Amino acid sequence: MKILAIETSCDETAIAILECDGSEQHAKFTVLGNALISQIELHKQYGGVFPSLAKREHAKNLVPILEVALEEAKLLHKDRQMISEETRAKISEILARESGLAEAFFEFISECKAPEIDTIAVTAGPGLEPALWVGISFAKTLALVWNKPLIAVNHMEGHILAALAQETQGDTLKIQEVTLPLLALLISGGHTELVLMKKWLEYEFIGETRDDAVGEAFDKVARMLGLPYPGGPEISRLAEEIRSLGFVKPSSDDGFTKPLTFTLPRPMIREDNCDFSFAGLKTAVLYLLKKMPNVSEDDKKHIAYEFENAVADVLWHKTSRALEETCAKTLVIGGGVSANTHIQRVFKEKIQNEYPEVALRIPEFALSTDNAVMIALAGYYCALRAEYSIDFKANGNLHLI
Ligand code: KG4
Ligand code: ZN
Repeated sequence: MKILAIETSCDETAIAILECDGSEQHAKFTVLGNALISQIELHKQYGGVFPSLAKREHAKNLVPILEVALEEAKLLHKDRQMISEETRAKISEILARESGLAEAFFEFISECKAPEIDTIAVTAGPGLEPALWVGISFAKTLALVWNKPLIAVNHMEGHILAALAQETQGDTLKIQEVTLPLLALLISGGHTELVLMKKWLEYEFIGETRDDAVGEAFDKVARMLGLPYPGGPEISRLAEEIRSLGFVKPSSDDGFTKPLTFTLPRPMIREDNCDFSFAGLKTAVLYLLKKMPNVSEDDKKHIAYEFENAVADVLWHKTSRALEETCAKTLVIGGGVSANTHIQRVFKEKIQNEYPEVALRIPEFALSTDNAVMIALAGYYCALRAEYSIDFKANGNLHLI
């Protein structure tokens, strides 16, 4: 089955077309087309994602990237199409709030034959609601003119499946053999949670952040240090510079760095639960900076390094507690923060040394941050269970459970 998937939950506009095959844990996918436009450069000036700007950009980008994805998949067949007045009226109504999208849509659709796809999958949540709505409205209009069934996808399920999908060769992905129960640590700009899968794609809640998400903490601390959005990769870059100098040893006297004169808290690390808190860690960085008369480039690196260590410590402690409690056999790390080199290193080492029987699954870099391939993966599982939706709304707080 061919799935066209659309992702607009945050600041990436993405469309992918996948050929999907096989049953549940033996599914195989070929990426036929994959187009993505990142809005990062635009949001940088605001130090974070500006929702109304994200919405406007999605509306501007969707038609052009649909064309690119279809062309790449060799499914773009230019041909004059008749659209009835009734369909036109419906489309105008669905796209009424998406500035400029209806005009671009009519222009494109009246020149393009319905492609040979079986279904359209779109992120329904969680995410920024104004941004989610653009993708959903666009998917609904495509489903209407092309007469295709529609699937509402949970973005976080996409992140889990992205970690389980392994590239076999070229554009072909395969779901790796999974031993249940599976524990997933989901870490992104809006989420920090631990969920358990005892049965395939059925979830139980294990823990979550009580305040900021971990990606949000990375972004906010980066902003305090005068680093651009998104902060995660920037903090990681500075912290890795210190590590590469061998600074991991506190007594290091390499002549370049000075030893750390401060430590940051590891919030809730000893508490008897699997919940997280990152607001206090962020505030600790703020107080530390206030005490410094001037902040040198070296100071910034030290803060980035200690902040990243604190985050990795807390994430690992809570995850290992959850592994003990659930006896999980597979551990998945998913979401944008899973791209972090240090967090990956800590988890790989700890799993190898302390839980060698647990299989660790981390997404490939291109599938770790938001993309439409993961939405197609999740969409395929909905299709296998015949979970089609005709009418649904954007849900910024959509839960897995
Ligand atoms: O999953 P994602 O692309 O979007 C959401 O669904 O939120 O995650 C974005 C988050 C941002 O907060 C970004 O700073 C963080 O992922 N991130 C990283 C890294 N790459 C992206 N955080 C730490 N280290 C990274 N290398
Ligand atoms: Zn995400």
